[in-house]
Amino acid sequence: MFDRTIKIAPSILSADFANFGEECQAIENQGCDWVHVDVMDGHFVPNITFGPATCKAIRPHIKKIMDVHLMIAPVDGFVEQFAEVGADFITAHVEATPHIHRTIQLIKGLEIRAGVAVNPSTPIESIEYLLDMVDLVCIMTVNPGFGGQKFIESQVSKIAKLRSMIGDRPIHIEIDGGVTPKTAPLVARAGANVLVAGSGVFSGGSVGNPSVYGENIKMIRAAAEEAQEQ
Ligand code: DX5
Ligand code: ZN
Repeated sequence: MFDRTIKIAPSILSADFANFGEECQAIENQGCDWVHVDVMDGHFVPNITFGPATCKAIRPHIKKIMDVHLMIAPVDGFVEQFAEVGADFITAHVEATPHIHRTIQLIKGLEIRAGVAVNPSTPIESIEYLLDMVDLVCIMTVNPGFGGQKFIESQVSKIAKLRSMIGDRPIHIEIDGGVTPKTAPLVARAGANVLVAGSGVFSGGSVGNPSVYGENIKMIRAAAEEAQEQ
């Protein structure tokens, strides 16, 4: 039976960039399920974060799932490097290449779980012919590039449409952007099960005060789980 229970995946985009190793250990000790790693190239999105070398450096500090979100274009030439450094999931954007089917084939060919991400203006039908290949679909609920942005409510109906398209395929529905205890119920009720949260987890805490991370994770999880039961 596919595990559709709620997973909380803090995004290290909101973490202390001078201390990724300890930040990853802190969020794992405080109860996160996955670690979401936002790779940005300053071309596909208007921001630059880090690349394979940073992912390689933080991998030993992540015991759980390392969920790599590639906000880069072109993308195919880098997939192998992220596979080599130990990504558990590699997610590429449908908007990053005219040949996203080939990109997913590439990721799966490397025995890595494959995700496809869609930006807020992209119809969910765009990934229909990938549903028998991918392990995850990521619906962006902000325009990618930055943490701390406002949740885009129009995406909730897209989540519900995706949930019905997926049927009983073993595919995670991941939501990325503006996830808080307030927005988590909206997306969980619509069918999402992996909730990425950057500012929603990291705000107010630090590696010196990690219990704030734990509190934030608990509140988002509780809000989502309550909605799932309804
Ligand atoms: C945005 C990234 C998101 C972001 C989420 O481009 O893909 O993962 O870090 O940050 P919050 O949760 O603060 O919106
Ligand atoms: Zn992300």
